[in-house]
Amino acid sequence: MPLLLGIETSCDECSASVVDHRPGAGLEVRSLVTHSQVAIHRPYGGVVPEIASRNHLETVNETIDRCLADASVAPAGLDAIAVTNRPGLVGALLVGVAAAKAIAYATGKPLVPVHHLEGHAASVFLQPEAAAKAAYPMLIAIVSGGHTNLHVARAAPELWPPDFLARSLVGRSIDDAAGEAFDKTAKVLGFPYPGGAWIEKAAAGGDPSAFRLPRGLQGRATLDFSFSGLKTAVALQAASLRKSGQLEARLADLCASIQEAIVDALVSKIARATRENGCASVALVGGVSANRRLRARLEAELGPAPLLFPSPEHCTDNAAMIAAAGAFRFRQGHFPRGRDMLLVNAIANPEA
Ligand code: KG4
Ligand code: ZN
Repeated sequence: MPLLLGIETSCDECSASVVDHRPGAGLEVRSLVTHSQVAIHRPYGGVVPEIASRNHLETVNETIDRCLADASVAPAGLDAIAVTNRPGLVGALLVGVAAAKAIAYATGKPLVPVHHLEGHAASVFLQPEAAAKAAYPMLIAIVSGGHTNLHVARAAPELWPPDFLARSLVGRSIDDAAGEAFDKTAKVLGFPYPGGAWIEKAAAGGDPSAFRLPRGLQGRATLDFSFSGLKTAVALQAASLRKSGQLEARLADLCASIQEAIVDALVSKIARATRENGCASVALVGGVSANRRLRARLEAELGPAPLLFPSPEHCTDNAAMIAAAGAFRFRQGHFPRGRDMLLVNAIANPEA
């Protein structure tokens, strides 16, 4: 205890989860139900915001019902309801926020609005083996389809301040996110959306140094990233290979080179941010953290600082991480009181 229901609808996953926060003993995921819209958006090559909102509206109640049933918890048995209210597709966020608000209103339980990235940052604490290795300061690298952010957590998540994300930020992508770079280059090569896992699969057996591709902002003092040049370089390379009829034969080499360019950029800055901030552990979270080449290269580069990952189902968007971040906020009393919860709104912008 306390027992939290988490709801996540910021993009193309409609997810609900019941998480038990046992201070001193960690977090226990009692249930997690995720309805993925990936197949629905695939024909369009990316997420269509209006289709996402409408699908959330059709699936959110069923997802929450199944999640509560799986955890054998009635709404009245919850201690609080946590919901992603920013950032994301605003129409998609509104569905989760309205559903969470209705449950909070009907049960009289507190509503805890959660920043999606704080959820990703908290995801590593859902994994007991990772949580046991946590040491501070901790570098948290959030590498997803929408963000590439480096944060330094100076204390355990139970002590994070309400403006934790803004205060802890030490580096970020100035344009495309790492996952976006995977997705855009995958699209150029004709792979389905989302492309990260496809590139990883196609890279197997390829030569990562076959093609020289840009590593934006590499060798500069900044801890920021830039991935936008990669798509253009890959498009030009793919066009030339296509013209000479070699694309198919060189696909593994090209995919391995794309993966290496993204991994190089991530590993060098994550390792430097770790050293410069004297971090005692590193958490790699978000969808791209599922990439095995990234995990292996980072592990080799970091030396003694332990590397922490969420379990695979908590890497990509899910409501367990939202319930976890919500639990840490709930414990500290960082949530609106009484009727103020009715003012909680959906916010598209990550800085808001
Ligand atoms: O965290 P996430 O589910 O959603 C956002 O909050 O954006 O991350 C999705 C991203 C996509 O860009 C996807 O291509 C990428 O994670 N991804 C991967 C892998 N699995 C998912 N990228 C590289 N290698 C993978 N194995
Ligand atoms: Zn995410």
